[in-house]
Amino acid sequence: MIRIDSVTKRYPDGTVAVDQLSLEIPDRSITVLVGPSGCGKTTTLRMINRMVEPSEGTILLDDVDIQQQPVNTLRRSMGYVIQNAGLFQHRTILDNIATVPRMLGWGKEKSRARARELMERVGLDGALAKRYPYQLSGGQQQRVGVARALAADPPVLLMDEPFSAVDPVVRKGLQDELLRIQEELGKTIVFVTHDIDEAVKLGTMVAVMRTGGKLAQFAPPAELLTHPADEFVEDFLGADRGIRRLSFFPSAGLELLTEPLVAVDATAEQITAAATADVPYLLVTDPDGKPLGWGEPQDLTAGEIETDRLLPYGRPFVTATDSLRAALDCAVLSPTGWAVAVDTEGRATGVVSQQTIGEAIRGAHAERRAHDGKVAEAGEPGTAGTAGTTEKVAP
Ligand SMILES: Nc1ncnc2c1ncn2[C@@H]1O[C@H](COP(=O)(O)OP(=O)(O)O)[C@@H](O)[C@H]1O
Ligand SMILES: [Mg+2]
Repeated sequence: MIRIDSVTKRYPDGTVAVDQLSLEIPDRSITVLVGPSGCGKTTTLRMINRMVEPSEGTILLDDVDIQQQPVNTLRRSMGYVIQNAGLFQHRTILDNIATVPRMLGWGKEKSRARARELMERVGLDGALAKRYPYQLSGGQQQRVGVARALAADPPVLLMDEPFSAVDPVVRKGLQDELLRIQEELGKTIVFVTHDIDEAVKLGTMVAVMRTGGKLAQFAPPAELLTHPADEFVEDFLGADRGIRRLSFFPSAGLELLTEPLVAVDATAEQITAAATADVPYLLVTDPDGKPLGWGEPQDLTAGEIETDRLLPYGRPFVTATDSLRAALDCAVLSPTGWAVAVDTEGRATGVVSQQTIGEAIRGAHAERRAHDGKVAEAGEPGTAGTAGTTEKVAP
C-alpha cells in the first residue's frame, strides 16, 4: 500500500501545489487522481517516485518511508507512463519496450523476448516491433508506453494523463485495455486525469482534488456520484451525475420481449404471429440470429425480407456486461425508441422499450436509496438531485 501522509509541496517560487494531502492507495487496484488543471495531480504523482520531493509530510510504500530507499530501487518498482508516451524516437518499438530490462542487465535476447511478450499483452501486433515511434498512430504509441512501463514487472504503475492526447474512440480502447491488463496483472495503479468520465470508468477509488492542491473527496465512483461531499465535487461531476450513476446498475435484470424477433426468411404466419405483440416494429435477424434492422409488419415480405429497406437497429447492448446506462443510450438512439439486447456473440436476445428501462431505473434508484437508509431524509441533497434527474431521463 502507498500511504500519503499530510504531504505538502511548496515550489521555490512559493506556489503551494499540494496542501496537506493524505491518501491511502490500496494495492492491486486503480486509484484515480482527478481535478482541474493545476490542482496538483502531477506533483502528487511525481512525489510518489521522488521526481519531486515533498516540503512536508511523508509517503510510505508498504510501511517504509520512501525517503529511506535508494531512489533507483524505488523507481524500478514503479513504471511511469506519460501523455504522448515519451518514447525514444531513435529506437525501435521493441527496443523502447526493452529499455528497462536492458538497464537491469537482462541481456539482449531475454529483454527482447520480454518485450515481444508485452507487445502481445497490450494488444500490439508483433509486426510493429521493428518500426520507429513516428511510424505508429497515437494510440499505438500509447500502448508502447504502457508496455515499456510494465517491462520489468513493477508492482506499481504511475500514469499521468496517459490517454488525454488520443481521440475518443482510441481512448476508449486504451481504457478497456488497461482494465483488462489490471485484471490480469493486478498492479497497483495511480492514474491521473482531468476527465471525470475516465476517472469514474477506471477508478476503484477516486480522489477529487481542487485548485490549491487540496483533497475534496476520496471515495469509490458510485459513492462519489451518490453523495458528493460538497458543491465543488458536485459541479465537477457535472449536471448529468444522475445518468452517470446508471453505469453502476447492471442491465441484466431488464425484462426483454422476444416475440417481435423475426428471421429474415420468416413465413407469413411467423410475421403475423410476431406482429400481435405490443410493439409497433419487428426486429429482423439474420440466420445466425444477429440483428439486421427494424421493419413495420406490413412492409415485411414473407420468405425474403428486403433488408436494405429496414430501419437501422443502432448499437445493441450486451445484457451480460452492459449497464442500464448503456441500455438507455441504445433506446434513446434507436429510431424506434426500442433497444436491442444481444448476447456476447452478438445474437439478438430480445428488445426493450424506453418505458421499461425507465421503470427499471426508478426501481434501481429506489432500491439503492432504501439500502442507503436515506429514504426518510427528503431534503438530503444527493438523493433529491438524483431523483430529479431520473424523472428527466424516464420517458
Ligand atoms: N516546477 C514548478 N515550479 C513552480 N510551480 C510549479 C511547478 N510545477 C508545477 N507548479 C505549479 O503547481 C501547481 C500544480 O501543478 P501540477 O501538479 O502540474 O498540476 P496538475 O497536474 O493538476 O495540472 C500549478 O499551479 C503549477 O503551476
Ligand atoms: Mg498534470
